[in-house]
Amino acid sequence: MRIWIPRDASAKALGAEEVVTAVKAEAARRGVEVTITRNGSRGMVWLEPLVEVETPEGRVAFGPMTPEDVAQIFDGGALALGLTEDLPWLRAQTRLTFARCGIIDPVSLDEYRAHGGLKGLTRALAMTGAEVVQEVLNSGLRGRGGAGFPTGIKWKTVHDAPIKPELGEKKYIVTNADEGDSGTFADRMIMEGDPFTLIEGMIIAGIAVGATKGFIYSRSEYPDANEVMAAAIAVGRVEGLLGQNVLGSGKVFELELRVGAGAYVCGEETALLNSLEGKRGTVRAKPPLPALQGFMGRPTVVNNVISLASVPVILAEGAEHYASFGIGRSKGTIPLQIAGNVKHGGLFEIAFGLTLDKIVNEIGGGTASGRPVKAVQVGGPLGAWIPVSQFDTPFGYEEYAGQNALIGHAGLTVADDTADMMAMARFAMEFCAIESCGKCTPCRIGAVRGVETLDRIARGDTAAIPLLTDLCETMKSGSLCALGGFTPYPVMSALTHFPDDFTGAAREAAE
Ligand SMILES: Cc1cc2nc3c(=O)[nH]c(=O)nc-3n(C[C@H](O)[C@H](O)[C@H](O)COP(=O)(O)O)c2cc1C
Ligand code: SF4
Repeated sequence: MRIWIPRDASAKALGAEEVVTAVKAEAARRGVEVTITRNGSRGMVWLEPLVEVETPEGRVAFGPMTPEDVAQIFDGGALALGLTEDLPWLRAQTRLTFARCGIIDPVSLDEYRAHGGLKGLTRALAMTGAEVVQEVLNSGLRGRGGAGFPTGIKWKTVHDAPIKPELGEKKYIVTNADEGDSGTFADRMIMEGDPFTLIEGMIIAGIAVGATKGFIYSRSEYPDANEVMAAAIAVGRVEGLLGQNVLGSGKVFELELRVGAGAYVCGEETALLNSLEGKRGTVRAKPPLPALQGFMGRPTVVNNVISLASVPVILAEGAEHYASFGIGRSKGTIPLQIAGNVKHGGLFEIAFGLTLDKIVNEIGGGTASGRPVKAVQVGGPLGAWIPVSQFDTPFGYEEYAGQNALIGHAGLTVADDTADMMAMARFAMEFCAIESCGKCTPCRIGAVRGVETLDRIARGDTAAIPLLTDLCETMKSGSLCALGGFTPYPVMSALTHFPDDFTGAAREAAE
């Protein structure tokens, strides 16, 4: 009997290890031989730990499993959910990047290959770097780390960047796995559930731009992801995927995992590069672009985990296939990470274009509290709060920019009608004050003044509201990076859409 129990951090946090122990004990008691495979998560976090049992018809899901309920795996019961593939949450998705996540043993290269892995790399190995770059350009893939910059253009810049072989100069591929945005977990999930997809994407990037060395910059808060990633890299080396002769092609690609200490700003690409070089994680002024002078001053591709993990399917199925999903200039699929006060939280991969109404109310099932939704913060701590009146906005880069918002890394944090939006605005400013790298004044000083100004408003000083607006304008236009530059989004969206939470609180305090 083969049983799948996720080793994903969310499943572990919800008791997966205890379930493993209980399943082993129950199987021994019954004299049943079981093989337990630790897979990644299917993304239905509200059902974790989601245990699956292999049957001739397919895998049958049980969840959320507890140690007390493991007998149901053998006898059936209320936690039996039917065939996993038939669960409506999974059926409604278009899983391109997460096609294998939760399905395979994450560190088995054989299973990866058996489920379509390495097809993209095999094709790329027969192409020139310029052809691979063109394929990624044609796919319309844009960076999933936040800025939405076209990946193909970034790769072309690195591909075209001159190197001086006489100086031993190299080019590098750096994966940004710092994933510090609140409510986001797509990078973690793919690293824990299908790490070879990221490795394959990085090797393809190396072929495209002429880089022979890559780094994955992860974070100390992700011990499970780091463990799986390190194991997959070790397997990749032994099995000839990584190293001096990639899949017997004669091409070289070495890969190293580096773990940062968890400063939010180290997710900003130039601070990340400083950290990777062993320096303090402060932001560098641009230009020069990392694509021209990145790691150790060499041309460097810095891409988010999901950007790179989306590349294998683009090469495997062709740019046109990928570009056939999505809307406008937002091509392909996006792994939505639905979190906060929501009934069905988790990862949902779908073509760009869904409305928040559908995402929150249909897919997410509304709030966990059962109260009406007040707003959703889209794009992490620097993202705007979207009120219900804008819930018909299609999920796309330009569509959100048109609403003074951003999709960022596609994290969605749902709040019900009890949320105090002024407190949320204060949190955004406080977050910026704490995480600021201190390099530029509008962010370093502005965020501290922002907290003070919001406290004045909370005490009933409504005259401070124009001051807050002014301050946000200064931070937006004068900050060196998006930490200071985008903090005004959550602050101003809260003020614009929920002014009563500011003046109402102020009135109440004044009385
Ligand atoms: C304060 C700050 C934090 C960031 N954190 C991340 C992060 O955790 N992961 C990420 O991929 N990009 C992050 N970014 C964006 C990166 O600077 C960069 O745009 C991204 O890694 C480029 O990859 P992409 O083109 O694949 O999106 C952050 C930016 C800022 C300003
Ligand atoms: S905006 Fe903030 S985090 Fe960014 S460079 Fe300036 S001080 Fe540093």
